[in-house]
Amino acid sequence: MVSASNAFMSLYIPIFLILPVIFSISTAVHTIPLNGTCLDTCGTIPVKFPFGTGFGCGHPDFARYVRCNSGTLEFSTGTGIYTISSIDYPSNTLIVRDPLMSTCSSMQDSGSFSLDRASPFTLTGDNIFVLLGCSTTSPVFDPKEDLCDTGSGSRVCRGLYSCKGVSGIGLPQNAPISTCCVYESPIQLAGYTLDLPKLQCSSYTSVYSFGGNEGDPMKWNFGISLQYNGSYYSNICKDCESSGGLCGFAGFDQSFACICRNGKNTTTSCFAQGLAWSGTWGSKVQTKFSLAGGMP
Ligand SMILES: *[C@@H]1O[C@H](CO)[C@@H](O)[C@H](O)[C@H]1NC(C)=O
Ligand SMILES: *[C@@H]1O[C@H](CO)[C@@H](O)[C@H](O)[C@H]1NC(C)=O
Repeated sequence: MVSASNAFMSLYIPIFLILPVIFSISTAVHTIPLNGTCLDTCGTIPVKFPFGTGFGCGHPDFARYVRCNSGTLEFSTGTGIYTISSIDYPSNTLIVRDPLMSTCSSMQDSGSFSLDRASPFTLTGDNIFVLLGCSTTSPVFDPKEDLCDTGSGSRVCRGLYSCKGVSGIGLPQNAPISTCCVYESPIQLAGYTLDLPKLQCSSYTSVYSFGGNEGDPMKWNFGISLQYNGSYYSNICKDCESSGGLCGFAGFDQSFACICRNGKNTTTSCFAQGLAWSGTWGSKVQTKFSLAGGMP
């Protein structure tokens, strides 16, 4: 009965009546925001390959570390979820903020920080990790180990202990720096662990630049500077981006997918997707929709 009336309609409805309906339906399909569609920003941070805003976006090796959660770009490791405050794509670096990390204005007990050995991220050489409020029996002060930089590191410790924020870890301003250690991390090549309970320290901070004013710790830039592996960007991803799409992945094998603005994904670029959309498959579906919609 449905097919009989379909046949009736397709014979008798003049084409100029159907066309506007097809047009309005296909426009509507293109503007419906689909779940799982990748975005090119998260809050104010531009999100480009190899990063993605959610599962299926960006490169699969990065998807378990970085995602967008209600406008905050998050970085996850075994020790917690941190906030990405900026990404510099040309140098393949990013700055991560640990909400429990101390700064000059606010010091508090911190959690540990670790970076998985298998992750595509490494620490850059810019970071100066400082352990604060350590027990004087802490293993970092073992003279045989030589883990603390006692040269220029003492200036960094004195600077931090001059901050009003030290009261947050129970110390008076300008306390002796014997409980502070500028930590010379043993091996930075792969993986990194700052285990505060094991090191017997109550807090840590990372200074990635002195902001041009080494004498004023209020002006220092606090955060963890990371380098990511930038060799994931491929020609197929470049083609996808130049067709207006975002690179992602799909399927059990997490193979490359180009996510187009209409929420559809293809294995090549959105130019190919556009052809498929206006081809026979697309118009059949649209005609069926428009006939159903036009029935009395
Ligand atoms: C890509 O397409 C597949 C199959 O239709 C779908 O399961 C997946 O969610 C899509 N990915 C995105 C990011 O839209
Ligand atoms: C970077 O990623 C590429 C592609 O996955 C890989 O072949 C290479 O070994 C990685 N480099 C490093 C230093 O991890």
